[in-house]
Amino acid sequence: SNIIIINGPNLNLLGVREKGIYGDLEFSTYFETLRASYPGLGLSYFQSNHEGAIIDKIHEVGFSADGIVLNAGAYTHTSLAIADAIAAVTTPVVEVHISNVYAREPFRHHSYLAKNCKGVICGFGLDGYRLAVESLLKG
Ligand code: DQA
Repeated sequence: SNIIIINGPNLNLLGVREKGIYGDLEFSTYFETLRASYPGLGLSYFQSNHEGAIIDKIHEVGFSADGIVLNAGAYTHTSLAIADAIAAVTTPVVEVHISNVYAREPFRHHSYLAKNCKGVICGFGLDGYRLAVESLLKG
């Protein structure tokens, strides 16, 4: 199988940014551990701070990959364009948030993306990415 993790804006700063909320592990370190625990799985990673680049990547992989794990960061709460991109492709998408967005500000409680996703995982820290992979592998 081929699964891609797509991280959106500010997630390049994991391990540096608001550690009390997002933890002190860099994503690249976590990703290498995750990849090592799934030998045989084609697990790849893409990050962009740009809405259009995230949409381009969803289009690029969204008709061939077996799954997309998407943490769109703050675009989750603003982007009809990313919501439409998820609806446009055939690959299932699992929405992930590291933090429990429901324990935070009200503007983080709404996702434009969720209704077009297979499901949503939030509040489990970086382990949420693994849980999303598990769900996609079950089909
Ligand atoms: C986030 C939650 C979003 O509200 C926030 O804008 C982020 C990260 C999370 O992983 O918890 O950038 O998606």
